[in-house]
Amino acid sequence: MAEAFRAVPVSEHVHWVGAVDWKLRDFHGYQTTHGTSYNAFLVTGPQPVLIDTVKEPFREEMMARIASVLDPQSIVAVVSNHAELDHSGSLPAVLAAIEPERLIASEPGAKALREHFHWAREIDVVRDGERRELGGLEFLFAETRMLHWPDSMFTFLPCDGVLFSNDAFGMHLAGTERFVDQVDPSLWRYEAAKYFANILLPFSPVVKKLLARWPSFEWDVRVIATDHGPIWRRPPHPIVDLYAEWAAQEPTDKAVVVFATMWNSTARMAQAVIDGLLAGGVRVKVMPLAETHRSDIATEVLDAGALVVGSPTINNEIFPSVADVLTYLKGLKPRGLVGAAFGSYGWSGEGVRRVEGFMEAMKIPLAADGVRVRYVPDEAAFQQCRALGEQVAARLTLPAPTA
Ligand code: FEO
Repeated sequence: MAEAFRAVPVSEHVHWVGAVDWKLRDFHGYQTTHGTSYNAFLVTGPQPVLIDTVKEPFREEMMARIASVLDPQSIVAVVSNHAELDHSGSLPAVLAAIEPERLIASEPGAKALREHFHWAREIDVVRDGERRELGGLEFLFAETRMLHWPDSMFTFLPCDGVLFSNDAFGMHLAGTERFVDQVDPSLWRYEAAKYFANILLPFSPVVKKLLARWPSFEWDVRVIATDHGPIWRRPPHPIVDLYAEWAAQEPTDKAVVVFATMWNSTARMAQAVIDGLLAGGVRVKVMPLAETHRSDIATEVLDAGALVVGSPTINNEIFPSVADVLTYLKGLKPRGLVGAAFGSYGWSGEGVRRVEGFMEAMKIPLAADGVRVRYVPDEAAFQQCRALGEQVAARLTLPAPTA
């Protein structure tokens, strides 16, 4: 089996030696519809260096790819940019197999590795901004704390202009294509946005600081070798501008309508709300919860200006799938939104108030009071729902008319 796995050249001194996880469909609550990859990189200077490793079940695949280039035991140093187990799960076994002279990590990285593996082993700590010769080539290091863990770090190889960016600039996308320019643009654009929305969105202020600091690195980045999905090899890299756009979370003219329904009343109310939004001239993304995963809703919210949520009341409570998605979104801390709520009920009607409570906790101002309808909406209720949609639309920023 192992012989089938080959390394893929990335630049003069770098090979991709990672693993493709075709089957992964859930990454702690994020639906990875297209699987993922765990990227690791072999740097072949006078003496080889390994950048990151892979999730433990994929260790043999990575070792086979390394062995397709050189003897793994000739590796003199391993750099661990991030301790999360999709990148370090195989690290103990890899270190035992290749016995490198050095294991390199940031200070928080060394702490996190020790806490994961309960090690007493020596870890060579690199400081933010440090230059270091490893295996006969110069490497630079920059801490990227909270992108997305305290230990996250970038490693840069100046001679090839390769930035090993770890989780940053990645996407969960399995494929035979190793480079973004080989992938359908609409696919990589959606998967990169989904990755940002579901992993990096809460850290948008940190992304902004990193991008502001980026020029001070004075790094000639020609390749961005991320640890998930395809590699960016053709500058200028659109993903850097997209990160600036996504982190800014400027309000837009798009409303996301999310709803659950029991006997179709809240669904019919949703249609009237949508009619009102469209009458107000805004773009609308309709996301019925029975057919939509929370991570796709987060992706659509990333570039939205409004979040409109419909929940029936069940047993004096918000509908469970609505609570699920709002709990998830609350943790992702979307900004630049206005909100509104609607829903049907039988005799108590707490669902809409619970949605509004979530919005208050999420610092999403309400465009209008929520609309509640007992049992089944009539024409007056539909008019209220349409008016709600129009009130939300009036709060959104419409694009300037073209001449
Ligand atoms: Fe891909 Fe934070 O691990």
